[in-house]
Amino acid sequence: MSTKNEVLSALMAEREAISGEKLARRLKVSRNSVWKAIEQLRGEGCVIDAVTNRGYKLVALSDRISAPEIEGFTRTRELGRHPEVHDRLDSTNTRAKLLAAQGAPHGYLVCADSQSSGRGRFGRAFFSPERSGVYISYILRPTLPAERAVMITSMAAVAVARAIEALCNVNVKIKWVNDLYIGGRKTCGILCEAGLDFESGMLDYVVLGIGVNVARMDFPDELKTIATSVENECGVHISRSRLIAEISNQLEDLWPQLETGAFMAENRERSLVIGRDVTVLRGDEAYPAHVLDIDPQGRLVVRAEDGVRRLGAGEISLRLN
Ligand code: BTN
Repeated sequence: MSTKNEVLSALMAEREAISGEKLARRLKVSRNSVWKAIEQLRGEGCVIDAVTNRGYKLVALSDRISAPEIEGFTRTRELGRHPEVHDRLDSTNTRAKLLAAQGAPHGYLVCADSQSSGRGRFGRAFFSPERSGVYISYILRPTLPAERAVMITSMAAVAVARAIEALCNVNVKIKWVNDLYIGGRKTCGILCEAGLDFESGMLDYVVLGIGVNVARMDFPDELKTIATSVENECGVHISRSRLIAEISNQLEDLWPQLETGAFMAENRERSLVIGRDVTVLRGDEAYPAHVLDIDPQGRLVVRAEDGVRRLGAGEISLRLN
C-alpha cells in the first residue's frame, strides 16, 4: 500500500485527531512523508483538519474511489477484500480476465474511476466517464457446473439492487437479465465473461463486471432518454467507494445461494418484464412476445405466436413495448 493510502487508512481508523509524529512512528515513515501524504489526500478532495497540538483529523472523505475507503466499508471474508484501484483502464473486465488467467484468487476485485473501452453485452460500449460511476470486475472461481454458474448474472443483479437500496431511498428493478433500472431508466449493466479449462471441461473462472451510473450525470444524446444515475434519481450524494463495498458485502451474502438459486425469488419480484409485452431480439430476428415468468434456471418464459418458449440469456435481448 502507498504511504498516502496507509495514512488514509490510519486516519479512518481514528475517532480523534492523531499527531503527525505518531502516524510516522506507526507507519514507519518520516514525518515529512506523512505531511506529503496529507497534502496529496487534501489535493484529492479529502477534508483533513489540522488540530493545534493534537494533529490531524479526517473530517470528510473525497469523492474519489480509493482502496482504503472501500476496505473501510467492506465486511467480507473473500470478495473484494483488497481491491485494486485504477484511475483509468481500457476495461476492468479485460484486466480481470488477464489476472484470472495468471491465477488471481476467487474474490479478487479490479476497480477503475473511468474506462476508455468499457464493454457491454453484444459488443456494445458502456459509457464510463471519470468521477461518475462504479466500474468494477470480480474474479470468481465457482466450483459448480457451467449451467449453474450462468446464474451469477441473476444473482449479481439482486446483490447490486440491494446495495443501491441500502444507500438511498430508491426502488431498483431488474430488466432480464443483466440491466438494473431506477424510475424506468437503465442505471446499471452487468457483463459476465467466463474462461474454460479445456482439460477438465470445467469453468476456470468467471469475470463478473458491473457498471453503475452513480453521480449526477449528463448523458450523451443517444443515452439521454434511456439512462439515468443513482444520484439523478435519489438526489443525495452517494460515496462510490461505499457502494463498491456494499456490492461486495451483498454478493458475498448471496454467493452460497448460487447452488440452490434461492435468490431467484427476489429476482422475479424485482422483475421489470414479467407480465409485460416485449420484443425479443436475436441477431437480426425480432418477434413480439408476452413474458410469463422467469424459471428457476433463470430462463425467460414467454408466450410467442407459435407457443411458449424458454429463452436463455446468451443470444437474446429484450425491448419493452
Ligand atoms: C451491459 O450494459 O450490457 C453490460 C455493461 C457492463 C459494464 C461493466 S463496467 C465494468 C466492467 N468492465 C467492462 O468493460 N464492462 C463491465
